[in-house]
Amino acid sequence: MKNFKRAKAQAALDWPKDLLSISDLSPQRVREALQLAQRVKEAPGAYQHSLTGCHAVLLFEKPSLRTRLTFEIGMATLGGTASFVDCQHQRIGERESVKDMAKNLERWCSVLVLRTFSHAILEELARNTVIPVINALSDFEHPAQVLADMLTLQQRWEEVQGRKVVYVGDPNNVSNSLMQVCAMLGVHFVLISPAGYAADPVCCERAWRAAEQSGSSVELSHDLGRLFGADAVYTDVWTSMGQESQAEKKRRDFAGYQVTPALMNRAGKKALFLHCLPAHRGEEVVDAVIDGPRSAVYDQAENRLHVHKALLLKALRNA
Ligand code: CP
Ligand code: NVA
Repeated sequence: MKNFKRAKAQAALDWPKDLLSISDLSPQRVREALQLAQRVKEAPGAYQHSLTGCHAVLLFEKPSLRTRLTFEIGMATLGGTASFVDCQHQRIGERESVKDMAKNLERWCSVLVLRTFSHAILEELARNTVIPVINALSDFEHPAQVLADMLTLQQRWEEVQGRKVVYVGDPNNVSNSLMQVCAMLGVHFVLISPAGYAADPVCCERAWRAAEQSGSSVELSHDLGRLFGADAVYTDVWTSMGQESQAEKKRRDFAGYQVTPALMNRAGKKALFLHCLPAHRGEEVVDAVIDGPRSAVYDQAENRLHVHKALLLKALRNA
């Protein structure tokens, strides 16, 4: 009985095996990851041998600049190694079963970092392997991205609780994770999208539940007037990777939702501008905003590195 209790207590302390959704982390775990990322940023040398002997495999079904490189550089600067497998022309599960792949990979490596079209494939792979799996973007969520976004906001404001973040544009993988992490950390979140483009109900439900706990709010709107009082305005591409056939229609449907200096002014004079990148300049955002003084986009990109290092340390060393 005693052992059982101890095992339960230990499990509560442990970092979860997989990070597939940001909801795999409790608010406390999110804060711990951000603290570790900040420490890693300030003293990278202290961690340079932490993952000696560890090997990451990155399997990506879609292109990437930031995510791929920051996981690769992250492993290298923690003393580990990484292999990149380009799955753009042969998706995971096509050549052999996802289970067989998972069972092979766990014999050679320590952690899997996956970018998939289908979130279900990510879940299937994670279920079938004993090693940690990290979501590097799926059709459903982009949890590693929003941790870097929160680190960026924390660095700018010190405390994010009570601030207001407004996401304008296409409800997608990024906004699905963003609404949840904001709710967990007590940030008021508003998603403004055109009629006909609704946020994912499962993520909304999770975000509303988290907001109840933290005392923040999560609101869905079509009204750009809801920008008023925003401390940060976030947008992402209108056409995510794999949705290229919808680009023309989306350009028409989202025309009024482009982030321009006039739109930023509706938020407030000090509002930051955030974008996960890559940006489709001239579509969801204009140069004057993304290159302007309120833009934090390159800090977000830099913080991907520190956050990924923290996630690797947590997953492999329970740091
Ligand atoms: N933000 C992001 O995930 O960028 P990449 O697609 O370049 O990895
Ligand atoms: N929503 C975008 C994010 C890219 C980082 C996409 O899925 O293409």
